[in-house]
Amino acid sequence: MKRIALFASGSGSNAEKICAHIAKNPEMEITLVLTNNPEAGVIKRARKFGIPTIVFDKKSFYETQKIQQILKNEAIDFVVLAGFMMLIPESLVKQFPKRMVNIHPALLPKYGGKGMYGHFVHEAVKAAAEKESGITIHYVNEQYDEGDIVFQAKCSLSEKDDAIGIAQKVLELEHQHYPVVLQELVSQLPD
Ligand code: GRF
Repeated sequence: MKRIALFASGSGSNAEKICAHIAKNPEMEITLVLTNNPEAGVIKRARKFGIPTIVFDKKSFYETQKIQQILKNEAIDFVVLAGFMMLIPESLVKQFPKRMVNIHPALLPKYGGKGMYGHFVHEAVKAAAEKESGITIHYVNEQYDEGDIVFQAKCSLSEKDDAIGIAQKVLELEHQHYPVVLQELVSQLPD
């Protein structure tokens, strides 16, 4: 059984799709959901699946090894970030080499980096009058949105799509692909 930890900061709609998909696979489980936001919708969604959640603060994340220790004690094999808003500390990146992925709501390397999250991404895509946008699933390194790309999917945009419309199209792609790509990656881990 492969054990996956999921980090999220917000609503957790991706987290929910992932939990539902992985629940059907007897070879893996979402063992733990971790969040920096005590108000995050993801907490309620995790509860629906009976998955324990851990809320942590910025200080313990950046100044202690508490989270690293929890992941070790829980024998976590793989980490998935789904709308997690904090930069991952170096020691945590090193703990999960090629075993930690993030999803970004645009076609990296465009529209990534610090400050490029949520509606900012879609507004920038709109301002540039892009003909397409999409999603990027990538391994995590110490920089925002710079790890090796694992998977991308595109959607076409029309002049009629505003930033909100773009966000909807992109979120649909996330929900469609992230659970499947994650399952594929975890199933390829050595025993
Ligand atoms: C997604 O668009 C994700 O790509 C971005 O934040 C959003 C999270 O949505 N990083 P949700 O919390 O999964 O609903």
